[in-house]
Amino acid sequence: MTSSVLHEALPNGREARSSGSARGLGLTVELEDGTALLDAVSGTFNVPLGYNHPAVVDAIREQSARGVHLASEFTRDRARQVLQPLLAHAPQGISAAWMRDLTGSTANECAVRIAQKATGRAEVISLFLSHHGQTLYTTGLSGNAFRRAAFPAGPATGVKMPAPYCHRCFYAQSYPDCGLLCAERLADFVEFASSGSVAAVIVEPVLGNGGNVVPPPGYFERLREICDQHGILIIADEVQTGLGRLGTVFGSTTVGLRPDIITLAKGLGGIGVPVGAVLMREELDVLDSYEHSFTSGANPLALAAAEATIRVITDAAFLADVRRKGAVLGARLRQLGRASGLVSEVRGTGMMWGLELSRPDGSPAPETAREVIRVAREEERLILRPSRYGFGNVVKVRPALIADDSEVADITARLERALIRVERSGGKAGR
Ligand SMILES: Cc1ncc(COP(=O)(O)O)c(C=O)c1O
Repeated sequence: MTSSVLHEALPNGREARSSGSARGLGLTVELEDGTALLDAVSGTFNVPLGYNHPAVVDAIREQSARGVHLASEFTRDRARQVLQPLLAHAPQGISAAWMRDLTGSTANECAVRIAQKATGRAEVISLFLSHHGQTLYTTGLSGNAFRRAAFPAGPATGVKMPAPYCHRCFYAQSYPDCGLLCAERLADFVEFASSGSVAAVIVEPVLGNGGNVVPPPGYFERLREICDQHGILIIADEVQTGLGRLGTVFGSTTVGLRPDIITLAKGLGGIGVPVGAVLMREELDVLDSYEHSFTSGANPLALAAAEATIRVITDAAFLADVRRKGAVLGARLRQLGRASGLVSEVRGTGMMWGLELSRPDGSPAPETAREVIRVAREEERLILRPSRYGFGNVVKVRPALIADDSEVADITARLERALIRVERSGGKAGR
């Protein structure tokens, strides 16, 4: 798409503009100098409807004329109504909803508070490579030390256990002969490593920042059984996987996860409007409002954006189309992966994919991932992002859910050219 095309009104109303030096338009970020970048990663994974979907733009425009702020006593009921349509699509047993957060980090803290208050227990177990936020608590909860290193006051929070990362199994096992050791070991961590007072396990249906790690079949089912045996709740952090990303409203239903509490943020605002929510089993609706609230929680703009987004994303035809496009995207990426000597695995589901880059000896190649992303940006005008956690050698591909067939094809064509160029130049991995 040329930048001149960007200035024209498009038939589906994609012409609305965001403020600031750069602007977003559908799947495109246009820089001040007119350079048009095709965004293959949905902003910060938070614009599932593209940068300016008319349904959300109109809703927040209309709402802003009627008030940007109202105290929560005036928005509480509306917040429940807004989230109601999600409950029809939620995993079994999830029937209550809260909307008091603007970020995924505090939504996860809300979930932890619920789990602690409901169980009377303290600790939360999380996974290696997980990301649950950037507050002091959720940085401690996340399964990587690099964001904690500079902050002596922010130690790791709770026990971490190995993630179901089959491509580089922490136990050096192979699925299915491993007997799902990574799930099985939970009982040992509870018994031998925890404080003895474990309220919950927090998991992402697909580990996003950890490298687009899709747990193997049976993993979440086994985790559920062990948690049930120990009276431990499961929190599904659906900040990345929620709202249609995997082709279903909740990622949990795609991967066989039956959580007690679900957190949402990112995609819930449709075009990047900050909003978070927490859904739970009815009996876990235990928090008094004073126990978790923020000045701008459930503000009218967030409610308007979430309402419009939920209306678009819960539409059955919309979701079927996401699944269809996701299958096309995945098949094409797998083809690229097979053809490229840089790629050791392509994994994902729905519209959430990652390419793991490795050296000829099989070791992780983060330099090559960075180089592919640089070449894609500078020579193909394609926005990609690396996994920041673990080895940093996964290139993430997660276009907005509204991507049309030609945009999906364009993303994979540009990525293919970037891979070929880096491979021919010997990459940065000593090839
Ligand atoms: C899975 C997951 N949980 C939580 C968060 C934190 O969300 P926020 O940045 O809105 O606080 C993120 C952000 O990247 C995330 O990917």
